[in-house]
Amino acid sequence: MRIIKGTTYEDMSRKAADVLAAQVLLKPNSVLGLATGSTPIGLYKSLIERYNNGELDFSAVRTVNLDEYRGLPADNDQSYNYFMHHNLFDHINIKPENTHLPNGLETDAEKECARYDAVIAAQGGVDVQLLGIGHNGHIGFNEPADHFPTGTHLVDLQQSTIEANKRFFASIDDVPRQAYTMGIRTIMSAKCILLVASGKDKAEIVKKSFFGPVTPQVPASILQLHPNVILAGDADALSLI
Ligand code: F6R
Repeated sequence: MRIIKGTTYEDMSRKAADVLAAQVLLKPNSVLGLATGSTPIGLYKSLIERYNNGELDFSAVRTVNLDEYRGLPADNDQSYNYFMHHNLFDHINIKPENTHLPNGLETDAEKECARYDAVIAAQGGVDVQLLGIGHNGHIGFNEPADHFPTGTHLVDLQQSTIEANKRFFASIDDVPRQAYTMGIRTIMSAKCILLVASGKDKAEIVKKSFFGPVTPQVPASILQLHPNVILAGDADALSLI
């Protein structure tokens, strides 16, 4: 594992964006695995700045997102599809047809999971998978469990995740209870994994995930077994390691 330390959130975001920028420069048709949540927003801003400065070209880049709430249409401002457009896709020259997310409106879970796994496979594998980390160690929406889930699947969100996400909704009752997510096998199949973490509240789980036992009770701990992981954190998130 390599650790990139930023002094602040902005510094960490810039340094983490360097990794994705280098990937796109070296391989213009890279497949980027993307994440939502608050942590990657600074990284996306930094990529947009570089695009605006003429440093990056996304015209051949393809993306697959980690997850999507079930039940929210793409134009709902809390859907992950909307988030990606608002925070990245609408500000760079990526082709809409090259961006992929699970379809939150598909009610047939088996069908949607098989479709999304096929979409990921058709890209030929993810070059760099960006991840955030939940307070319980979730990556994507792979919540603590008795086993590591494999491919794309439908999950019931844990109460702690619903609580953490309620800040984005009018009330806790509006937070969706289920989501489609890439599984651990899919995440671990990426050639490189870049996990971004920010804030004191993430320090404990960062330590547990990267220096504690590998267990499905802490899903991110599986990353210890990946040969090419980069942990990018600000000083607060890395304060216990
Ligand atoms: C988002 C995702 C989640 C978040 C995690 C951390 O696509 O898959 O696992 O990365 O919940 O979220 P933030 O960054 O908001 O703390």
